[in-house]
Amino acid sequence: MSKIWVKKPLSAYEADMKKSELKKVLGKWSLTAIGVGAIIGGGIFVLTGTGAYYHAGPALAISFIIAGIACVFAALCYAEFASIIPVEGSAYAYAYGTVGEIFAWAMGWCLILEYAMASMAVSVSWSGYFTKFLKIFGVHLPAYLTSDPASYTGEGFSMNLPAFILVLLITALLVKGTKEAAGANNLIVLLKTTAVIFVIFAGVYIIFSNTDLYNAVDGVKNWKPFIPDQIKIKNSEGDMVSAYGIQGIISGAAAIFFAYIGFDAVSTQAGEAINPKKDVPFAIIASLLICTALYICVSLVLTGMMHYTDFNPEGRYPDAIKAPVAYAFEIAGKHWASNIVTIAATVGLISVVMVMMMGQSRIFIGMAKDGLIPRFFGELHPKTRTPYKGIILLGIVVALIAALTPISTLADMTSFGTLFAFTLVCIAVWVMRKKEPNLIRPFKVPAYQIVVGLGVIINLYLIYNLSDHAKELSAGWLLLGGIVYFLYGRKNSKLNNPEKYKDID
Ligand code: ALA
Repeated sequence: MSKIWVKKPLSAYEADMKKSELKKVLGKWSLTAIGVGAIIGGGIFVLTGTGAYYHAGPALAISFIIAGIACVFAALCYAEFASIIPVEGSAYAYAYGTVGEIFAWAMGWCLILEYAMASMAVSVSWSGYFTKFLKIFGVHLPAYLTSDPASYTGEGFSMNLPAFILVLLITALLVKGTKEAAGANNLIVLLKTTAVIFVIFAGVYIIFSNTDLYNAVDGVKNWKPFIPDQIKIKNSEGDMVSAYGIQGIISGAAAIFFAYIGFDAVSTQAGEAINPKKDVPFAIIASLLICTALYICVSLVLTGMMHYTDFNPEGRYPDAIKAPVAYAFEIAGKHWASNIVTIAATVGLISVVMVMMMGQSRIFIGMAKDGLIPRFFGELHPKTRTPYKGIILLGIVVALIAALTPISTLADMTSFGTLFAFTLVCIAVWVMRKKEPNLIRPFKVPAYQIVVGLGVIINLYLIYNLSDHAKELSAGWLLLGGIVYFLYGRKNSKLNNPEKYKDID
């Protein structure tokens, strides 16, 4: 009888680390760049308009603070685990080493929701900015080549071609090797972070130099009232829902949570880190703090430049919600600044898709090594040492779904998977502290009972605040995961079926 709560001994992780064939090339700032590269993306460039208009108004900055706090709790827990088990499977590996196989499976399954769905959602947002980017040069792509069939309003065939091609190009780059990919990533991250800082400074300048936006008596006019009264408005699906007020701030935090996803991608790179026990915890926390500070500033500047009601898709600027940061500058009459933002977002979103797909392929390696998914996913290329088969299969699936699916539910499902995984990581830290109090932990969560308790509560509360549709689909995904585990994973797991693997190891 297989044991679904079987745990992978920590000594096995140490042996895996010694045997690891991945090249150790990443230092602490490269890892931090991977984190920032994964975090800054569609969320800040696209979802800020949605957060301001449908949820929080100018208080969007408070939503960003709440979502940031939820992430800090999870980040501390990730950092503790990364310091104990710095292997490529990330939270999946932590769960296997502590709570047991079925918990690890649930975690791996949630991480697929997070990474694969996020790469789809971001490649679709990228396509929107890329289309706007081409317009700067007078090139107009026809709607049938930039829309998924569900969103396409015309007749006949349609697909999101830019998203499809982008994913295939990134797949090719990842097959070539992590070092090359990380090198390109460092450059892109620099550009993207510079662009976000540019948005903040240019935005502050525009607000304070324009008497329609600011004067000494009233302060920043568009921030009044900072927390608008709660009212009912029509959401993007046409239903009447509550917006603004305290409830709007909370639902806003769930809606923009997607913007923070990515810092945990650092932990999936531990197998390639030069000094994983110190540098991975550092990079996780550093990348999260850098992005939290930037996001709070961007949301303040954005709602200061443009009144939150002007993001209404049925209002006077119907397209503003699709590329809110670029439109805020355009509407302020600064076309050059809008173009800079469009170009930087177009280039910057590429790195998010890349890091997400890289993270996903590393989770595949971890699960394949343990026999929970077919060995195929973890096989490394003899020359480039990348898990090329898994990456290619992933690339094809992500490209096809990105080309044919609307973005909105993808983003919410990504958040569901991530929040659920974060909750499991917090619980796993607590279990580990109780069961293995003497384990050497190069990084320890301070006041862990409080951090873990608050982490679980706040993450579950944000899940509760996601859209019903996303919750239903995600619950279906978890159910499917249970079926796959009992039909495949449990029967092939290395820990439960050592006799199947004795000739291989
Ligand atoms: N945090 C990433 C983004 O906003 C997923 O695109």
